[in-house]
Amino acid sequence: MDRLVIVVDLGGGSNRGAGIMVTGWRMGIAQPGQWIYKRTDGTKRSNYLFPKSQTENPKLLLSKQMAPVRNGRVLFNSIPTGYPEPGKTTVYDATPTIDIDNAPLNGGFILKTLVLSIDPYMRGMMRSPETKSYSDPYFVGQPTNGLGVGVVVRSEHPDVKAGEHLYGGLTHEEYSIRKDLNGLRTIKKEHGLPWSVYVGAAGMPGMTAYMAWKEYSKAKKGDVAFVTTGGGPVGSFVIQLAKLDGMKVIASAGSDEKVKFMKDIGADVAFNYKTTSTEEILQKEGPIDVYWDNVGGEILDLALKYASVGARFIECGMISGYNGARKPIENIFLVVSKSISIQGFIIFRLEEKYRDEFYTTVPPKLAKGELKYSEEIVKGLEGIGEAMLSVQKGTNKAKVVVLVAEE
Ligand SMILES: NC(=O)c1ccc[n+]([C@@H]2O[C@H](COP(=O)([O-])OP(=O)(O)OC[C@H]3O[C@@H](n4cnc5c(N)ncnc54)[C@H](OP(=O)(O)O)[C@@H]3O)[C@@H](O)[C@H]2O)c1
Repeated sequence: MDRLVIVVDLGGGSNRGAGIMVTGWRMGIAQPGQWIYKRTDGTKRSNYLFPKSQTENPKLLLSKQMAPVRNGRVLFNSIPTGYPEPGKTTVYDATPTIDIDNAPLNGGFILKTLVLSIDPYMRGMMRSPETKSYSDPYFVGQPTNGLGVGVVVRSEHPDVKAGEHLYGGLTHEEYSIRKDLNGLRTIKKEHGLPWSVYVGAAGMPGMTAYMAWKEYSKAKKGDVAFVTTGGGPVGSFVIQLAKLDGMKVIASAGSDEKVKFMKDIGADVAFNYKTTSTEEILQKEGPIDVYWDNVGGEILDLALKYASVGARFIECGMISGYNGARKPIENIFLVVSKSISIQGFIIFRLEEKYRDEFYTTVPPKLAKGELKYSEEIVKGLEGIGEAMLSVQKGTNKAKVVVLVAEE
């Protein structure tokens, strides 16, 4: 016998041990007494031929070499009173391990985390479990979680295949064992976009801007829009949508770098609210027909003061109150006298309606540069605590994405 004989399907696996990628490989015999691993998934990588001196069945050898690997995770450690404190609110725990090939799945699958999104709403999850909200709380002693993309490395689930990518709620671990697809759906990497974009402009923040703008802005050419946190993934997307609808856009952010980005993507008036008076800008450039509110507090109060009759207020977020006391809104009575409509929303209630349209429309435009985005990549789960803080404080430069692992 001098040709390959298929002996056994090794099933799912990952890159470790002797450095052999076992996902999609089959083991056979190349020449009498010689072992080979042959890829069966159609990729062009070369087969792996064991030396003739390798007489022991390499599957056994590999299983001996495949020690459990590290499964680092981020734990919620204590409920913060103000800003989250890395190392206190959350801690990185590098001690867990996982045996990817042998961990019992009980009909589920193992997901390897690739990218994780860091979002402002996470601060709302750092609360006492008694406080009810639209999202579940983080539990002290348990891993934190958030939106991300992972790749399936081993599966016993009939609807989930090794090699598939899933987007949705992921625990902050390098690998997670999942029972089912609850909160997850398959996602394809298309148009040459990296996975990081699929949690940013082509993920939940992009959906927030795209879907709520469509649903609530009643955009009219020539109208004036005011967009806050315009340097972030939601605000920067809204700026571009308002410009596409022919509006004049006033946009604010907390650093000169973000101001530059807002100008680059088309904002007519872009300013740093920390160094320039928001009131003076709105007095000069208003009145406002659409206010996209990401901040609440004093700026919302000013937006009411400089709103036009019949203005639409889209209440997306109020980050000025996420880490401390919320300021009462003094000018709320102007809602009556100016016939202002105020619409709050949570994105998951709009997703069903617009999801297909979003994925057909947005990723190709991002890939062609017709819609622009900016991101800040943090490497490794151990950076999550700092990343969460930076998004709350505004020391982030752009959409924060944690790159946990390459494919
Ligand atoms: N309703 C929904 O379903 C939904 C979904 C997604 C996001 N959101 C909301 O949308 C907003 C933007 O989200 P994102 O993902 O695009 O966030 P992001 O811009 O990446 O990060 C949040 C930004 O908020 C700004 N900020 C922090 N504290 C502030 C304060 N006291 N006053 C003014 N600005 C402050 C900072 O930017 P500066 O440098 O500009 O200060 C910070 O970078 C957040 O309020 C978020 O909660 C809502």
